[in-house]
Amino acid sequence: MTPVQTVSQVFDAIQQAKAGAPDFCTNFFPVQRKVQDWISHGELFAELRHDAIFFYRRDRDFWHLYYCASSKTALHREIPTVAELRTEPIVLDLVGKEGDASAAIGDWESAGFRRYSRLFRMSRTSTDANGDKTESTTKIEFAVVPDAKAVLELLERAFDRFGEQLPVRYEIESAIQAQQVLVARHQGDIAGLLFFETQGFSSTLRFWAVATEHRALKVGSALMRHYFATQNAVKRFVLWVAADNVNAVQKYGHYGYKPDGLVDYVLANQLVRS
Ligand SMILES: CC(C)(COP(=O)(O)OP(=O)(O)OC[C@H]1O[C@@H](n2cnc3c(N)ncnc32)[C@H](O)[C@@H]1OP(=O)(O)O)[C@@H](O)C(=O)NCCC(=O)NCCS
Repeated sequence: MTPVQTVSQVFDAIQQAKAGAPDFCTNFFPVQRKVQDWISHGELFAELRHDAIFFYRRDRDFWHLYYCASSKTALHREIPTVAELRTEPIVLDLVGKEGDASAAIGDWESAGFRRYSRLFRMSRTSTDANGDKTESTTKIEFAVVPDAKAVLELLERAFDRFGEQLPVRYEIESAIQAQQVLVARHQGDIAGLLFFETQGFSSTLRFWAVATEHRALKVGSALMRHYFATQNAVKRFVLWVAADNVNAVQKYGHYGYKPDGLVDYVLANQLVRS
């Protein structure tokens, strides 16, 4: 694999794989700004094959794998030839409707990958409210850049790095600067956080976490209610949640979120140990 140097290398390579390919398949839906960040931080690598491209994004002590192939047959043919799939710790996401996403798993299982976790998407509209306007008395504010370390630590304690696409330090700092991280404090420490991205009429809740010692004390409630109460222009709220996180699924249900049919199978190879 070789380091990717420019954003256009990525988009040109995808276009090339797509050209004239009626059965094009991919798990890569890149956003230009994110690709630029990955390249600037030396995190993105690529491996070009005849009818397929594999991108690797470094994350902590493992890689996220993305592929683009001119057809499923080409992908099936190329997977066994990529040495890194056996020598590096790798996870990949297969996103889609239940049947489509699970149908793609077989090729990866033959290459030594296993089902690591399953997430599903939940969404709600601004009218599916459950007392949204009732803000709590717990003070909620935007995080500031010096909070980045504590935000990262709380995320890494609360979530699984292989299955949940956790941001790294620079991504947390940019999210804080963009006012996308809400925090609740207790005696100067961060007791809980809500990490989100709002664009126009749509808002994605990326992470909602409360430190263990502050759970079930309405800190999570205060964060969530503040989030809904302040996203006035948003018409559609979405999030991804691990299917086995019953606690979170029930709470999201309480706030009006419902599964909307999209799933994400996270697959991991044998070098990824949970
Ligand atoms: C999920 C999490 C953030 C909740 O935080 P918390 O402070 O314990 O939550 P709260 O006690 O404030 O409860 C939140 C809401 O859920 C409601 N709730 C509590 N138990 C519930 C249940 N079993 N079913 C449905 N709703 C429930 C509460 O009444 C409250 O609603 P309200 O606003 O109407 O009062 C916390 O458990 C956590 O950090 N978990 C680990 C990380 C995680 O899984 N995050 C979610 C995935 S992104």
